[in-house]
Amino acid sequence: MKKIFTSVILLAFIWVNSNAQIPDWSTRIASIIYNNCSSCHHAGGIAPFALMNYSDVNGAAAAVLDAVTQHRMPPWPADPSYMHFTNEAVLEQSEIDDITTWINNGMPQGNLALAPDAPVYDVSGSVLDTIDYTVQIAPYTLQYNTDEYRFFAMHTNFSDTVYVSKIEVIAGLPEVIHHADIYYDLSGQTFITDQLDPLSGFNNATGTMNTDKYMNAWQPGGNVVEYPHGWGIMVPPGADFVFEIHYGPGHIGETDTTKMNLQFIPADEVERQVHVGWLMNTPINGPLMIPADSVKVFNQVTAPLGNDLSVISICPHMHHIGVSYRVWYEDATGDSIPLIDIPEWDFHWQKYYTYQYVNHIPAGSTLRSEGVYDNTVNNLDNPNNPPVNVYSGPYTTNEMFLCYFIYAYYQPGDENILLDSSLLISSVEYEIDFSFDVFPNPVSNELMVNCYNQNLHSISITDVLGRNVFIQKENLNETNSLDVHELASGIYFITVKTVDGKASCKKLMKL
Ligand code: HEC
Repeated sequence: MKKIFTSVILLAFIWVNSNAQIPDWSTRIASIIYNNCSSCHHAGGIAPFALMNYSDVNGAAAAVLDAVTQHRMPPWPADPSYMHFTNEAVLEQSEIDDITTWINNGMPQGNLALAPDAPVYDVSGSVLDTIDYTVQIAPYTLQYNTDEYRFFAMHTNFSDTVYVSKIEVIAGLPEVIHHADIYYDLSGQTFITDQLDPLSGFNNATGTMNTDKYMNAWQPGGNVVEYPHGWGIMVPPGADFVFEIHYGPGHIGETDTTKMNLQFIPADEVERQVHVGWLMNTPINGPLMIPADSVKVFNQVTAPLGNDLSVISICPHMHHIGVSYRVWYEDATGDSIPLIDIPEWDFHWQKYYTYQYVNHIPAGSTLRSEGVYDNTVNNLDNPNNPPVNVYSGPYTTNEMFLCYFIYAYYQPGDENILLDSSLLISSVEYEIDFSFDVFPNPVSNELMVNCYNQNLHSISITDVLGRNVFIQKENLNETNSLDVHELASGIYFITVKTVDGKASCKKLMKL
């Protein structure tokens, strides 16, 4: 009897204990989904189904589990252990574990009154806070079942020079368009040629485009790039915008309405001009030709840079035979410094990756890369089975090996410019969401952080440049003692975050 009694207690203990460890929708899973998935998975978003409430996620549970444990979602092909970027869309292991435990244990809802509100999205698909100018192509219905490169020219009505600080391209046919490159033309020629074709836009059968400046590119999975405050791309009055759109094959009869939204900075706030360019586009061990049934490795090495550059973003580009692309630079002393690594190239996710701080590349450095191409049947993206020889060129069946950079010419101090607004937010003092106590402040060794009635996710300390110097995510209670004796003397910010996405921050002085 005693034995049975003990087992019952034990069982009850295990039940209570394991139950306590199963996260529920309301206090844990909802915030992970809203923060990492819903921006694309909502009605009108780029993903094919919504993840905007409990029943959406419940209905797609098996697929969600597979996608997050296999690291396919959220999509982020760049290796975070090689280089960190802003808005890094990578789930923490604890988040993947909690989604897994939740799905494998019947997906408890918890107390819905505690669930965060679902985010609200603009149905037009724009993520800009304000839009100063929109330019859209006249609808074009695809006339061919093959690849088509088509050019569209549109007048602007600017009476003065404008400086563009944010560019958002909303592809009309995101599944069909392989890229949309945006330029401006000052000659008016491209617009005149566009008028010669009775349909919207024109292709090489009618003429070629003239361009004066390259402004932006959208590729599948593309995103908005933000420049530092006061940095912009200059567009003179009288410029025509030119879109060069590459439509993939097999979509005759579908209609495209691609548009571009712009945000401007006032002329008197402009400090720096931003440039966009392919700083690397040819292999040193070319030509770029990948024979059928072979794997080939190509490298790029540029001439030493003539100027110091301040790089904001980087965007490598290949087609379907490409399988990995790593970019770094070698400085004048021979040191190799990482720029980006895409270990599993995915044609569908070509983003501009923005550095957390403006990335200073000194003059005299050489940009270098390694690209691997797999033209065998092992490459599941290979458009040809059996494989055929693949040559360099603009079409889907060709390959490319180039890397876009968004940059300005360097000025001292640029490397301290913070581009990651999630770090920026932790460098201001605020107590918006809840209050917490920090003492002693100033502190020498042991810091107490007390926070009641909140389910804590993390306590972190950042320096005045927004760099993380301390973070604790485990064993968080209502009262916490942190050992900070190793921190250098100075001013810091301490941020407490909760599992439902709330945050508060205070200034901290270390003696
Ligand atoms: C940047 C936009 C974006 C984000 C963020 C995103 N998705 Fe997706 N997701 C897509 C698109 C587009 C597709 C369809 C194309 C594809 O499969 O790549 C997709 C497909 C899926 C699929 C079905 C295909 C597959 O690979 O399993 C699942 C499941 C999924 N997403 C779950 C998630 C979850 C869970 C999150 C958050 C942890 C998330 N997604 C975040 C854009 C996104």
